[in-house]
Amino acid sequence: MAKITVVGAGNVGATCANVLAFNKIADEVVMLDVKEGVAEGKAIDMMQTAQTLDFETKIVGITNDYSKTADSDVVIVTSGIPRKPGMTREELIGVNANIVKSVVENCLKFSPNAIFIIISNPMDTMTYLTLKATGLPKNRVIGMGGTLDSSRFKYYLSQALNVNPSQVDGTVIGGHGDTTMIPLKRLATYNGIPVSQLLDAATLDKVVADTMVGGATLTGLLGTSAWYAPGAAGAYVAESIIRDYKRLIPCCIYLEGEYGQKDICIGVPAILGRNGVEKIVDFKLNDEEKALFEKSAEAVRKTNDILKEIKAL
Ligand SMILES: NC(=O)c1ccc[n+]([C@@H]2O[C@H](COP(=O)([O-])OP(=O)(O)OC[C@H]3O[C@@H](n4cnc5c(N)ncnc54)[C@H](O)[C@@H]3O)[C@@H](O)[C@H]2O)c1
Repeated sequence: MAKITVVGAGNVGATCANVLAFNKIADEVVMLDVKEGVAEGKAIDMMQTAQTLDFETKIVGITNDYSKTADSDVVIVTSGIPRKPGMTREELIGVNANIVKSVVENCLKFSPNAIFIIISNPMDTMTYLTLKATGLPKNRVIGMGGTLDSSRFKYYLSQALNVNPSQVDGTVIGGHGDTTMIPLKRLATYNGIPVSQLLDAATLDKVVADTMVGGATLTGLLGTSAWYAPGAAGAYVAESIIRDYKRLIPCCIYLEGEYGQKDICIGVPAILGRNGVEKIVDFKLNDEEKALFEKSAEAVRKTNDILKEIKAL
């Protein structure tokens, strides 16, 4: 019997819980929030779709009572503030570091064996904070960012090619920031055909640029950060773990020498299964990609350094 806790029943958390239930990924989904009644209300609302949408997953909403999250297999952390138009993800660190740290520690008390998926921003640094603050092994702390950025990359590629996103493949590695993510245009394909043979260089560069500010574009339109794709991406990561699918997913993981980096959590492709991170796929980047990855890691490290300044670590 699989149980998943989603902390934060806001836009991303509630969407994620909804997808988990609708796709029958867990038998029980617990949503926890600090706002009185919100998680409870959303859980009841979702349970009232169980008959029409045909799922058996039990969804429970709670305010602050971590005992109800006990024995979760996976904990998904979405609690914290989202960015507003004009803000970077990095600007959220002051508020979100304390929230993420206390949430993770509380969850661990009741689910000592859980695998953690961190979504709260700045996600690479929140993943690093989780790993360092808890001392958990690196296979049990996974940041979700590259999954979403890759689906945005596939969307923009599909728009340029005028095809369905499901026909396109592409990966984004590096940090989950507007200037730190690296959409790997060299490796993107349309049904196995390199997109570099189908799109001219200027169009492909525009796809990359649009992908990198994909989140900011939506924040500008919505007035807050997006939630459908982020919530679904969180559920996709959780599904690979719960069902031991061993999907190869770009996500934020602690590196110990892979891609030439150490002591950092950053986006790389990894196989996710019942043990969390089962393998990091350390493939060969070309010189341009390597340079971008190094620059990205440097920027993520700078944000990680703030954790010490604000005494979160
Ligand atoms: N990694 C990604 O790809 C990605 C994508 C989108 C959003 N995000 C991030 O996810 C986070 C959530 O975004 P959102 O749009 O759902 O925001 P939101 O404001 O809609 O929801 C956040 C929820 O967290 C709750 N919360 C705050 N402190 C809490 C605590 N201590 N314990 C439990 N719950 C608490 C709030 O009450 C709120 O309901 C933000 O930090 C956002 O930047 C990440």
